[in-house]
Amino acid sequence: MSQVAHSPKPGQRRAAGPILIASANGIKTCNRAMQLLKEGADPVDAVVAGVNLVEDDPNDHSVGLGGLPNEDGVVELDSCVMHGPTHQAGGVAALRNVRNASSVAKLVMRRTDHVLLVGEGALRFAKAHGFKEQELLTDGARRIWLKWKESHSDNDDWLHPEADEEARRYLHLPELEFTYGTINCCALTADGDLGGVTTTSGLSYKIPGRVGDSPIIGAGLYVDNEVGAAGSTGRGEENLQNCSSFMVVEFMRNGMTPEQACLAILKRVAHKCEKRLRNDKGEPAFGLTFYAVRKDGLVGGATMRGEGKMAYHDGTECRHITIPGLYPAPPRRDGKDD
Ligand code: GLY
Repeated sequence: MSQVAHSPKPGQRRAAGPILIASANGIKTCNRAMQLLKEGADPVDAVVAGVNLVEDDPNDHSVGLGGLPNEDGVVELDSCVMHGPTHQAGGVAALRNVRNASSVAKLVMRRTDHVLLVGEGALRFAKAHGFKEQELLTDGARRIWLKWKESHSDNDDWLHPEADEEARRYLHLPELEFTYGTINCCALTADGDLGGVTTTSGLSYKIPGRVGDSPIIGAGLYVDNEVGAAGSTGRGEENLQNCSSFMVVEFMRNGMTPEQACLAILKRVAHKCEKRLRNDKGEPAFGLTFYAVRKDGLVGGATMRGEGKMAYHDGTECRHITIPGLYPAPPRRDGKDD
């Protein structure tokens, strides 16, 4: 296995709460959540209000309204929340027609004796709490899906004309042909309490009913109020097979920094992953990223390949910070150095 590209720098990103961390698409999420934390909000209320902004954005094709659909063209959402002080959790999986999956997950946590509701039951529960059904497949997401449907096989009756500009933006980038786009956000309050959320439309063009890591406590999110919180974006199947977010928190419990813990789970995933998912060097060929905050305010993350980014709000400002990759970035296609 390659050497770790960057050595951890313990203490580099330490601040007293309130602190927020998120996946790189979480800048506006953190800004909103920080405003609420400073007004004294509960950490789960704050992070859910933050990710609601992204779930509501029809131009974000990874979450909520406008998320990329399953292979039938139907948007199915996954989300979970976890609350440090009570150790309660809630989640919804394969939820259709309700864009704020994270808010429904929060209600599962607060207003049921259960942790996870799926499919039709999750939708009925959301409607019982007043959520309105709406079509989540925007025209932009539908065009991207249609182009995928018309181009992924030459052995069917769907013919492929030229893609329009929006579809091209997605489909001409190999890494976006299938996307696991997701948002994760974790909070540490001024009182030292933790909470987190992960929300997603999941793997694009998935088999209907496919559930990823995002609604599963311990896979796409885990919070332990005595230790820290961790979440993930990327290929959810790996996190389901490795209980990854739980493991990140356990690694921190055993003394690792957040960055070390995120690199440690990436190494575990890389060691365990199936041969068909490896490149010609035997390294995992998929994307996977972890984000973690420790109870003492130390934050960090790591990604499978190349330098990654995460959002970090230290209470004063929100910015992207660079996180290390387990493997170096692939060489540029034009052969030049950056
Ligand atoms: N991590 C998002 C998914 O696999 O659905």
